[in-house]
Amino acid sequence: MVGLMFNIPDRNENFPIFKNNTGLVYLDTASSAQKPQCVIDVYNRVYETHYANIHRGLYQFSQVTTEKYEAVRGKVAQFINAPNADEVIFTRNTTEAINLVAESWGRKNLQAGDEIIISGMEHHANIVPWQILSEKIGFKIKIIPVLDDGTLDFDAFKALLSEKTKFIGLVHVSNALGTVNDVKLIVNEAKDFYSDIKVLIDGSQSIVHSSVDIQDIGCDFFCFTGHKIYGPNGVGVLWARAEILADMPPYQSGGDMIETVSFEEGATFKSGAAKFEAGTPAIAEVIALGEAIEFINEAGMENIAAHEVALLNIMMEQLQAVDGLTFYGTAPNKVGVVSFTASWAHASDIAMILDQCGVAVRSGHHCCMPLMARFGIDATVRASLGLYSNEADIEALVNGLKKAKEMLGSY
Ligand code: ALA
Repeated sequence: MVGLMFNIPDRNENFPIFKNNTGLVYLDTASSAQKPQCVIDVYNRVYETHYANIHRGLYQFSQVTTEKYEAVRGKVAQFINAPNADEVIFTRNTTEAINLVAESWGRKNLQAGDEIIISGMEHHANIVPWQILSEKIGFKIKIIPVLDDGTLDFDAFKALLSEKTKFIGLVHVSNALGTVNDVKLIVNEAKDFYSDIKVLIDGSQSIVHSSVDIQDIGCDFFCFTGHKIYGPNGVGVLWARAEILADMPPYQSGGDMIETVSFEEGATFKSGAAKFEAGTPAIAEVIALGEAIEFINEAGMENIAAHEVALLNIMMEQLQAVDGLTFYGTAPNKVGVVSFTASWAHASDIAMILDQCGVAVRSGHHCCMPLMARFGIDATVRASLGLYSNEADIEALVNGLKKAKEMLGSY
């Protein structure tokens, strides 16, 4: 039994969801991670002990809350090795971060005749905002093809670069396949081709499985969401280079992001991250996100990654023993996400039987319909690991699949 390894926190002690639901087998962490007690405590403590709106009050509560909120900008910057905390913008999630880049940077910098490149394994969040903008502006969207093993076709990517390429948007780790894309290689290739091409990396899945160093990657934008890294819902992060932010118009406008407003002169805006945080933000959520980052740092990203890779190998080995499964995403470099279909039943029916066995997995297109189409399927069953996953979870999955096969018979 692998159990919990290294100094990975004990799940029953640290994650109340497991204490309160004996026998819960949660294999849907790629969708959203369960929350450790310390994150829940910090979130509650904001409301119980010092809650007030931020950036507005001269009274002590407001100042304490403001300091705690602003301190998280620094923690995030350190976490992703951003050079400057003022480049860290709090959004609602990754989706809002990408919409911000499309609507602010994209609308200002892209023109009819330009080209942008995204990949065939993007989440809808990194496809649809560009499609909507492209319909308005008239730039072309080119797609990096996905190979049979779920990796990107790097040669095809090189062939897509042209003097018209202005932007590349790329997922770091595929939520549907688990593939880790060599984003540094792609950024280098793009910047060698033309240094002014801007590159956005969607780090929603990578941020929780390995250390991220945005300076090493060399990208211009990086985004992730809080609820996938054991933090609360309703908060995400967009990092962008200071000089790019300085040139971007506001995305949303209203309170807190302005310097002055007059009926005669219009409005002037704050600089840095503040220009992009209109209205009262998700205060308790941001502060609790800071705690989630500390929790991960204490567990150690290397330990988390090693634990998940060990479990992934066990999961792949044990799933091979189930008849009739086809796996999608077999790249050598992948995280603890396993997607498969069965010859004997549809993915949704399998997920329903697994639920009856107490095993939570996701089934469907995983917000990656073009990727599903690439493989000629409409859905997979996806089992995904978190730092609290253990070998007993995998056993329960395999047993649940065997039962599903017995019940559903031939398809
Ligand atoms: N993007 C999330 C997932 O992959 C919701 O399930």
